[in-house]
Amino acid sequence: MTAAPQDNLAALYPAHLAEIERRSADALAACGRDTLAVAAGQPHLWFLDDEGYPFKANPHFLHWLPLAGAPGSWVVFTPGQKPKLVFLQPRDYWHVVPAAPSGYWVDHFDIITVHTADAVRARLPKDPSRCAIVGAANATAGDFVPDNPPALMHLLHYRRAVKTPYEIAMLRVASKIGVHGHRAAEKAFRAGLPEFDIHCKYLEATRLTEHELPYGNIIALDAHGSVLHYMHQDRNPPLHAHSFLIDAGGTFHGYNSDITRTYAAPEAGEWQALVDAVDAAQQGFCAKVRAGQSYPELHLHAHHVLMQAMRDQGFISCSAEAAVAGGISSAFLPHGLGHLIGLQVHDVGGFAADEAGHTLPKPEGHPHLRCTRTLEPGMVVTIEPGLYFIDLLLAQLKATPAAKDVVWAKVDAFRQYGGIRIEDDVVCTHGAPLNLTREAFAAA
Ligand code: GLY
Ligand code: MN
Ligand code: MN
Repeated sequence: MTAAPQDNLAALYPAHLAEIERRSADALAACGRDTLAVAAGQPHLWFLDDEGYPFKANPHFLHWLPLAGAPGSWVVFTPGQKPKLVFLQPRDYWHVVPAAPSGYWVDHFDIITVHTADAVRARLPKDPSRCAIVGAANATAGDFVPDNPPALMHLLHYRRAVKTPYEIAMLRVASKIGVHGHRAAEKAFRAGLPEFDIHCKYLEATRLTEHELPYGNIIALDAHGSVLHYMHQDRNPPLHAHSFLIDAGGTFHGYNSDITRTYAAPEAGEWQALVDAVDAAQQGFCAKVRAGQSYPELHLHAHHVLMQAMRDQGFISCSAEAAVAGGISSAFLPHGLGHLIGLQVHDVGGFAADEAGHTLPKPEGHPHLRCTRTLEPGMVVTIEPGLYFIDLLLAQLKATPAAKDVVWAKVDAFRQYGGIRIEDDVVCTHGAPLNLTREAFAAA
């Protein structure tokens, strides 16, 4: 899929690039180097093999330009000068060679096309010791060996939480792509297809290969939804599926979406009622994605709201407060409310207190929360509350004093449905939040 005209990437790119240059200049000053050299990266091979993992570009490289398939290339930037792209186009008849750069971004770079790894090194700065070299350990070019200076990385990671309007436009396209897949997957569930076939329908609708997905699809029918990262994909048709949890995203030039929906079969009315309650609660949490909102406080708020929903529907007999304090909420919601999203699905900087590498702690008793920051305009977060019926955690809960507050007959009757998660990608703005996921569903 290409960007729609209103996504306006060409018009937004110059200001994005200027912002990346500003951040990079500040980061170079913080680590006392003159020049930034960012490696796109190299493919990783399997152990003792000449086959390898799919190539995944360095997100720092993708922050500069939308070039996800150019292993061996480098961006070089010295503040005050035009950025340079050393573009490797190998002479290779075994593999597809990256096409010559084109598009709205190329005029903003001095592009030097080379055809061998040695030629790449010749076009990088003479003295690597004056450079901050950013990349994975295997992304070397002669004596250019990534050192990822901590002072530089801390600053870049802290600031990467705030997206430019260009990045929001990229994320918007990634959301649209994911939602195409979700629509096809829901249809396949309603038609009674096995998990594997639903997955194939998702790929077909997004036009993404398995390797291009931002993360492995979670396609879970019935009790499989209680496995948080269920990636098994049963090939057999279900006898009759009552519930369907799908967590699957899209990707666009390295920018990702992360979307979850949960569905009930028509006869599973009691499951639909709980899905509706989580959906209503989730929209309330999305509405709180505003500047100044503490993300960990939103996470704790979600625990209370969801326990009230469970009390309203007869799963627990105590107050929401008692359910949170007694550990009941953590048994039903054992993951965090969400995370930053961008060039990485779980984007960097979620715990950053400042540009110097200090971190913000997680609330006690919530070890899986991935974001402890206070929201600012430009941040993009997922909001993904859930309720799960996980045998392991329910057995542990049963052994605690809080077990007396659980209506076990009702809980046991719901184990067959697995779990609920509703996940949207939401932009914090200067005003009302912008929900990229709901916007894409409304348009699909
Ligand atoms: N799909 C991974 C997550 O929701 O964080
Ligand atoms: Mn997520
Ligand atoms: Mn997800």
